[in-house]
Amino acid sequence: MTQEHRHKAGFETRAIHAGYEPDEMTGSVIPPIYATSTYKQDGVGGLRGGYEYSRSANPTRTALEGVLAALEEGERGFAFASGLAAEDALVRALCRPGDHVVIPDDAYGGTHRLFDKVEQVWGVDYSAASVSDVEATAAAIAPGRTRLVWVETPTNPLLNIGDIEALAAVAHDAGALLVVDNTFASPYLQQPLSLGADVVVHSTTKYAGGHSDVVGGALVVKDLEVAEKVEFHQNAMGAVPGPFDCFLTHRGLKTLGVRMDRHCDNAEQVVRFLAGHPEVAEVIYPGLPEHPGHEVAARQMLRFGGMVSFRVRGGEEQALRVCDRAAVFTLGESLGGVESLIEHPGRMTHASVAGTDLEVPGDLIRLSVGIETGDDLVADLDQALGRAPDRALGRTPGGG
Ligand SMILES: Cc1ncc(COP(=O)(O)O)c(C=O)c1O
Repeated sequence: MTQEHRHKAGFETRAIHAGYEPDEMTGSVIPPIYATSTYKQDGVGGLRGGYEYSRSANPTRTALEGVLAALEEGERGFAFASGLAAEDALVRALCRPGDHVVIPDDAYGGTHRLFDKVEQVWGVDYSAASVSDVEATAAAIAPGRTRLVWVETPTNPLLNIGDIEALAAVAHDAGALLVVDNTFASPYLQQPLSLGADVVVHSTTKYAGGHSDVVGGALVVKDLEVAEKVEFHQNAMGAVPGPFDCFLTHRGLKTLGVRMDRHCDNAEQVVRFLAGHPEVAEVIYPGLPEHPGHEVAARQMLRFGGMVSFRVRGGEEQALRVCDRAAVFTLGESLGGVESLIEHPGRMTHASVAGTDLEVPGDLIRLSVGIETGDDLVADLDQALGRAPDRALGRTPGGG
């Protein structure tokens, strides 16, 4: 698919065709897994297609990077060994010791740990601000030192919403770039670059890969100067994914649109059920009209996603019990796979922020609503919450 056509085609067409033309020699419709570390040169420096060594470039990775750029409507995509590897490469590419970054005050725990324990030691410090409070984000900027305003929207796990257009204006006024971690929404539901962001970050481990069988990360940028710095660091730091990982992630992306619609359908059904449950104190979902970010989410997202958080009346003990009792929902970290997952952020994904300003409530449960039969998910939550056991599924636990 040509660059020009890539931008005109619909999302699903780009997901299936961008980044790769059927192989000239065999017609292979799917990018082969190029399990090679090096490439024969036609005379010294005579590279075929620019391939020299697989840390620098590998055709299976090139195909993935092409589709990532096409889906996020960016100029260049870069694949990494994990989401955190992508984040670290971006900070090293764009910041220097003495610089400053603004991050969400409820950032993914691993992102907070990266800034707090790694980048800060290296000389890049940070302030945390609420992504839903544009003024607080502006106030957190250190004039002349802030290089990046880094947001997640929706955030992990509190599903706060940041107004990407407004945050881009604040960042740009201060001479900083806006980085959006688009992991929770996925490019199907939200395209931050077209709303003014400069860089999109993904843990492709999540919805992009979509099948919980590969760890990966990505950066998509719209400015070619930024792209050049990222490309240099991708190669110089070397945290690249192998060709099999790239193949899996690329295969996942082809079905992102249909999966996301089903994730959203099921999440809406689960939200309706939880909202009427007496043991549930609060349901947090940007699709609910009472969610403080609902209006912004409705403006910048196609739908509201597959992540649902809720707080239980019985406190932390009850939250842990619900996590233990769930059977169709597998107790486990991560999100965005076809199977539903349940977790206790305070003790699991966000344990690293315990005791900091970013600590999450103990009665909070996070669901990654999968694409199973919606009624089974609701019945499982019903029995896990300890009500109406006669309506439970009578299945053996689903593992994890
Ligand atoms: C929003 C978000 N960003 C980044 C990451 C880090 O990605 P990875 O685990 O692939 O390194 C995660 C992981 O859970 C995440 O949820």
